[in-house]
Amino acid sequence: MNVFETVTVGGADSYDIVVGRKLLAQVAKSLRDNVRQVLIIHPISLTNSADLLAESLREAGYIALQAGVEDGEPAKRIEVAAWCWGIMGQADFTRSDAIIGFGGGSTTDLAGFVASTWLRGVQLVQVPTTLLGMVDAAIGGKTGVNTAEGKNLVGTFYAPSAVICDLDTLETLPRNEILAGFGEIVKYGFIADEKILELIESDLEAATDTSSDAFAELIRRSIAIKARVVTNDFKEASEREILNYGHTLGHAVELLERYQWRHGAAVSVGMMFVAELARLSGLLSDEVVDRHRAILTSIGLPTTYEAAKWDQLLGAMQRDKKSRAGTLRFVVLEGIGKPRILSAPTPELLFAAYQEICE
Ligand code: GLY
Repeated sequence: MNVFETVTVGGADSYDIVVGRKLLAQVAKSLRDNVRQVLIIHPISLTNSADLLAESLREAGYIALQAGVEDGEPAKRIEVAAWCWGIMGQADFTRSDAIIGFGGGSTTDLAGFVASTWLRGVQLVQVPTTLLGMVDAAIGGKTGVNTAEGKNLVGTFYAPSAVICDLDTLETLPRNEILAGFGEIVKYGFIADEKILELIESDLEAATDTSSDAFAELIRRSIAIKARVVTNDFKEASEREILNYGHTLGHAVELLERYQWRHGAAVSVGMMFVAELARLSGLLSDEVVDRHRAILTSIGLPTTYEAAKWDQLLGAMQRDKKSRAGTLRFVVLEGIGKPRILSAPTPELLFAAYQEICE
């Protein structure tokens, strides 16, 4: 076991995020003393790794059950949650048993939802196995399932009791997926930590190599920002909104692309859009906007989108659950590390910013 750092999320339900390598044994250590049995919710594609985790938990004295679910968004359905509840009911799962979410962001969202609803809440340990899961989805207690009307429309805020980020699990991920995960890492750089941008700019190869020290530092810095923000504002009443930098247009792009684009790629286009929006509003310099384009392009993330899609994008943004009473709100920058909200920009300004990112 090789722990690089433990980051604490504060607040009423404080918990630790452990970052390191070879952390399988850490999962059993994070369970409360009275836990008797655990249900590992994992994608079927990770069955072999989930089997190893279950074995290590059995060796530590726990009864370990497994629920293999579909990969990605298809797992985030109420029917899948109900199937997990069924497994727990059959096993007489009590309040002192625990759920482990082992997988990417969709799996940890589902596992969090199941844990928060069974007997009004059982212990939850999140073990993200993707870059996006580690730096975003598994931290901060947002859980949810999708409905026919949209993503994450049903869910809870429910803090895990621990998050275990084992960087070794990333080594078998396709490079494309790692690079897409950098959409969120770049986001943290622009909203809160310029050092993240410098690490990427100074040596892209090292920064994107999951076995490098630079990569580990980027993960640690990203997690530290997310932990700080959700400590201050667990239920997204104010500061947590800054984590949505690039996400308003990004979510609309994901919807138009029928969720076939990777999240980080859609957020990349969304960040470019809000950078242009801030520039045209007189808030952000040309230099910082160009820096967005240069960094995102160097990683291979998209910075443009289709000119003809504006009306559809605008409609999708207006329907987004994060717009308030139909008023569009965007997180924009006044400089690196200086996010703020821009509320109700005029249609002309929005269209002008979009034209700057059209293919
Ligand atoms: N993914 C944004 C948040 O957790 O608030």
